[in-house]
Amino acid sequence: MEYSEKVMDHFMNPRNIGEIEDASGVGLVGNAKCGDIMKVYLQIEDGIIKDAKFRTFGCGAAVATSSMATELVKGKNIQEALQVTNKAVMEALDGLPPVKVHCSCLAEEALHAALWDYAKKNNIVIEGLKEPVQDIDELHHHQ
Ligand code: FES
Repeated sequence: MEYSEKVMDHFMNPRNIGEIEDASGVGLVGNAKCGDIMKVYLQIEDGIIKDAKFRTFGCGAAVATSSMATELVKGKNIQEALQVTNKAVMEALDGLPPVKVHCSCLAEEALHAALWDYAKKNNIVIEGLKEPVQDIDELHHHQ
């Protein structure tokens, strides 16, 4: 299996590992098939994502994609953050082996779940954001 240099870098030196106290939104998703779990924390001020952190009990590809995804959403507004799809994250990492593509969905879904949580707490509707699933194995349309 071949991993790009960027994937290796984000796996060996993951960015944004940790938690945010009093986060604006927290998202937790898992994948029942592999048993991996991802938790994403967002700090949102005036509609801008000021900070993003994650904790994972997941494989290397899940770590690398979450590291990159949290990097990409920082400084973005919510609509821009929704464009940070698993495809966008994979592109930013110069690709993932096909059998690891589903791992990138964990990052995307946890991010969406955190945005959903933020919207719920603030009584707002985020256009284009669907209610997240807790188990991404229920999603089969991502690849
Ligand atoms: Fe489960 Fe990668 S094998 S997220």
